Amino acid sequence: MDSIETAYLEKTPRSRAAFERAGRVMPSVAKGAYYYAPYPVVIDHAEGCHLYDIDGNRYTDFANHHTAQILGHRHPAVLEAAEEQMRRGIAVGAPTGVETELAEELCRRVPSLEKVRFCNSGTEATLHAIRLARGFSGRPKIAKFEGAYHGSHDAVEISVAPDVTKAGPADAPLPVPTTGGMSPRAVEEIIILPYDDETAVERLVATHWSELACVLLDPRAGVLPPRPEFVRAVREITRIHSVLLVFDEIVGFRAGTGGIQEVYGIVPDLSTYGKIVGGGFPVGAFGGRKDIMALLDPAQGPTGFSQSGTFSAHPVTMAAGLAMLRQLTPEAFAHLNALTDRLTTRLQMGFDDAGFAAQIVSSASAFSVYFTDRVPRTYRDLDATDKRNVRRVFLSLLNQGYYLSAGLAMNSLSLPMTEAHIDRLTEATIKAIGEGQS
Ligand SMILES: Cc1ncc(COP(=O)(O)O)c(C=O)c1O
Repeated sequence: MDSIETAYLEKTPRSRAAFERAGRVMPSVAKGAYYYAPYPVVIDHAEGCHLYDIDGNRYTDFANHHTAQILGHRHPAVLEAAEEQMRRGIAVGAPTGVETELAEELCRRVPSLEKVRFCNSGTEATLHAIRLARGFSGRPKIAKFEGAYHGSHDAVEISVAPDVTKAGPADAPLPVPTTGGMSPRAVEEIIILPYDDETAVERLVATHWSELACVLLDPRAGVLPPRPEFVRAVREITRIHSVLLVFDEIVGFRAGTGGIQEVYGIVPDLSTYGKIVGGGFPVGAFGGRKDIMALLDPAQGPTGFSQSGTFSAHPVTMAAGLAMLRQLTPEAFAHLNALTDRLTTRLQMGFDDAGFAAQIVSSASAFSVYFTDRVPRTYRDLDATDKRNVRRVFLSLLNQGYYLSAGLAMNSLSLPMTEAHIDRLTEATIKAIGEGQS
């Protein structure tokens, strides 16, 4: 066992015992993303931009619950809104009005949102957006980009992180299922597009448009920021071929008050949301053009469509989400984006000065670190990065008191952070890479 892992074991004996106990009743962890080897730290409580584990270690939190906790933890406005709603009734099986306030806030922020609906996760949001696109267009297939994640349902969990030896040519990728147990039909209903190649996107959409209900685009390409001209070209290509464009803003809504579509100057037909929109509670939302959303309107008589869900539009989630969004002022985004620029510039300088073949890429106050000597632009570039030391670097950061996502991808900043947090993370990351390589 190496010294990084030995130090981790010494610092976290209670987490280890908790992991062994959990493994008796769960397949090791309660959800896949919680796991990393040898075992995850178990969190006792959280405050501001810090997590505290059951062994008494403190971490600066750069994971922020899969990017959702943009205000950090236990923000007083969110706590107060959720507590107030709980006192009035936790789940009452009827509208309370707070969902209208959150819908108004979203529509006010995002001009392309004429109408919205709520659900429980980003997964559900993309599922419903795709159903709407299929129903509205009368076309059966969808297109998504290679390397993009849009949730865990069969229609989209395809070519998320494919083995490139099975994924065909870069400019005409083949669909590859991400997990066992998916419907064998799923790969027949999808066209996979390459990021950063508008010529190939034009060719593929022009070939398949008559069967395509929509193109689903996460304009962050995971965390890679695509060229604005590429994103605009995708909008133009879909418009020319009358294919609906669905923007996945589930992480990108961190970019600014109008989300990432405002940053790129794009008007999509439908958009999907999750994460920060629920104030730290489970949430999804989708919306866009009112002629498409009208398919879900029961007051217009039977349309043949439905969307509901026991806990969709849960009042506590709605109240917390509204409180969170109200904190996300232009000044708040300016602070987060300035810190992201500082981190990106300083860390890249640190990598270059130390002679590390490493890149930091960032978008919408989310960032990833990859081991490669060239700036990655596509999924295939990411696939070619060196993954051998990722785990050691991640564990070294934990040992130094920094909690990132285990693959070092999809980390994020939170509002309570200051330049000092950024500069300390920069130093710790350089140290971790030095340790991780030795
Ligand atoms: C871009 C994107 N779309 C969809 C999802 C799925 O959201 P959820 O995990 O809430 O189902 C995620 C989750 O990380 C995401 O990053």
